[in-house]
Amino acid sequence: MGNLVVIGTQWGDEGKGKVVDILAEQADVIVRFQGGHNAGHTLVIDDKVFKLSLLPSGIVREDKVTVIGNGVVLDPWKLLEEIELVQSQGVNIDPTRLMIAENTPLILPYHKALDQSREQATDKKIGTTGRGIGPAYEDKVGRRSIKVGDLRDDELLKHRLAIAAEYHDFDQQQLFNQLVHIKEHILQYVGPVAEWLNAQTDAGAHIVFEGAQGSMLDVDFGTYPYVTSSNTLAGMASIGSGVPHNKIPNVIGITKAYTTRVGEGPMTTELFDSIGEHIASVGKEKGTVTGRARRCGWFDAVQVRKTCMINGVTGIALTKIDVLDELKSIKICYDMHDGIPVYEEVPGWCSSTVGITQLKDMPQEAIYYINRIQELTKTKVVMISTGPERDQTIILPASLF
Ligand code: IMP
Repeated sequence: MGNLVVIGTQWGDEGKGKVVDILAEQADVIVRFQGGHNAGHTLVIDDKVFKLSLLPSGIVREDKVTVIGNGVVLDPWKLLEEIELVQSQGVNIDPTRLMIAENTPLILPYHKALDQSREQATDKKIGTTGRGIGPAYEDKVGRRSIKVGDLRDDELLKHRLAIAAEYHDFDQQQLFNQLVHIKEHILQYVGPVAEWLNAQTDAGAHIVFEGAQGSMLDVDFGTYPYVTSSNTLAGMASIGSGVPHNKIPNVIGITKAYTTRVGEGPMTTELFDSIGEHIASVGKEKGTVTGRARRCGWFDAVQVRKTCMINGVTGIALTKIDVLDELKSIKICYDMHDGIPVYEEVPGWCSSTVGITQLKDMPQEAIYYINRIQELTKTKVVMISTGPERDQTIILPASLF
């Protein structure tokens, strides 16, 4: 396996956590490269459920090293909370297993306050997760971020806080004290990530880059302005970690067998009927982070064809196919006419695919559906997920393994 990046081809929540976990088995290092604790990755391992927001999914495999790259925005208190939670579930986390890039910008309390007050103040809501992600990225490009490495030097930290205070309303001394209070806990993980990752990959280590959110939430290519504030596409793996793009040859596009979206903004194949409700309930379509109900709709092949193109997806991992098990017929959007989706209808399989591990055991109608997805998106399917557990997966022969 060469280095690979895992991204979502839709609006996030495609089931990246499970796929990253499977791919991580053959990797040495797992890297988060954008977003923050707005992401939610659920991992089901044996009888344990891990809900991760900021830590890379590889954290649950104790022989792997995990990295938070500079493209992430980091809430240091949330990180410490999450470390404690995962440790309480029996996972060892120490500086040999977790490294944070020193140039990672911090999310501070004023970012969260701003995110939430903006959402409350307007009738044109984005539906953000309210965690301060957007304001923290604004400060990064506004050149007034506090980077995690700044915690090493009290004078520098004071200076940076004074600059931030020109834009934000907060008590500088109080925040300084709060940061000093936690800095030792955080700084033990902080290091020169780009140098380390490049040395690792040059020495033959395999790296999985773990995307968060989905391509349709990308700040450039998504449904702007109803997007997140980072680039969620595969190219960001390079910028957000310091590993050059030509060292990341493979791109796995995690793709749900239907469409969901959380928050506001357009969604062309959205269902407002009992089928949408059925998909939401069978698929347990509720946000990992915010608990909000996800909007559900048919598979949008026009959208996924485009996101596969702009990410350079080398293989699709198709997830949650079993959620469609009970439907008598299924629609796929294959074209758009004046903003209206054009559908083809394919027969459902009306039998359980839960836990199937071999393609030959899949109903013919399900195979037909998967083939149509391959044809319409012009991208091969290399993995099919038939349930939340690690082993509820079909690995296809044409895949990377
Ligand atoms: P923000 O990322 O909190 O700024 O929210 C911007 C938009 O991205 C909102 O519509 C959120 O619901 C959405 N969003 C952010 N993170 C995720 C995610 O991990 N999955 C799905 N949607 C997300």
